[in-house]
Amino acid sequence: MSTAAAISSLCFALSKAAAVRPTVASVLPTPPQHSSPAPRLIRNFPVFAAPSTLTAAVEMEPVERLRSGFDYFKKEIYEKKLELFSQLAEGQSPKFMVFACADSRVCPSVVLNFQPGEAFTVRNIANMVPPYDQIKYAGVGAAIEYAVIQLKVENITVIGHSRCGGIKGLMSITDDSSTSTDFIEDWVKICTPARDKVKKEYASLPFADQCTKCEKEAVNVSLENLKTYPFVKEGLEKKTLKLIGGHYDFVKGNFETWEI
Ligand SMILES: *[C@@H]1O[C@H](CO)[C@@H](O)[C@H](O)[C@H]1NC(C)=O
Ligand SMILES: *[C@@H]1O[C@H](CO)[C@@H](O)[C@H](O)[C@H]1NC(C)=O
Ligand SMILES: [Zn+2]
Repeated sequence: MSTAAAISSLCFALSKAAAVRPTVASVLPTPPQHSSPAPRLIRNFPVFAAPSTLTAAVEMEPVERLRSGFDYFKKEIYEKKLELFSQLAEGQSPKFMVFACADSRVCPSVVLNFQPGEAFTVRNIANMVPPYDQIKYAGVGAAIEYAVIQLKVENITVIGHSRCGGIKGLMSITDDSSTSTDFIEDWVKICTPARDKVKKEYASLPFADQCTKCEKEAVNVSLENLKTYPFVKEGLEKKTLKLIGGHYDFVKGNFETWEI
């Protein structure tokens, strides 16, 4: 199974035993059957159970969907806030840098009502901040450097979320499992210390609850990793920068924050 297939079906099969091909059955609204206790990762449900209003949009021609989305934005937002957009045309000075998951359900602009210009945002699998590494993680490093040094953001927040597939993937990696993805496993292993802590401290919890714990622990690992960037460390020491952890639970409709 290719990585592309794994992602497009929102289905991670991280153990050798769980090479699940995306089939029609895997996208139908019945829960996946787990017959073996082996950790396997069939993505959270419901995958395609989008409201019917969304289904219509999904079935549009893609370019048409983009055009109509922009038409809506231009009429309802851009043209109603011309002053804001003309200011932003001159430059940005967001106060927040935000790390959020790439998951389509957790857009921070939607969930936290960030307006254009308010949040410099990085989204990736499982909202992880890797430690300072100029070779392996240049993309994330460049974003943090730009946000802190050029934009002088004042607050960096890392926001985890409920039913995160990336965290589920991390929690499903077994010590003996060989890598079955080109990138995903290696990426989510950034938060291995969170995984190990949860496996140790919450061994008796059901897997889903362990994942919830790990979603929050992983945010803490990322916050600690932020301190490995010299410009972040300096900002914290000078108190020009603050780090904030967050967790958005879209099942319960909750948002939790903590400062470190
Ligand atoms: C994350 O860190 C904060 C601050 O140190 C702590 O209060 C909290 O318990 C930690 N959260 C988890 C889930 O470990
Ligand atoms: C961001 O954090 C700084 C401290 O680093 C604080 O003074 C400021 O009020 C915060 N800004 C916002 C928008 O929360
Ligand atoms: Zn996620």
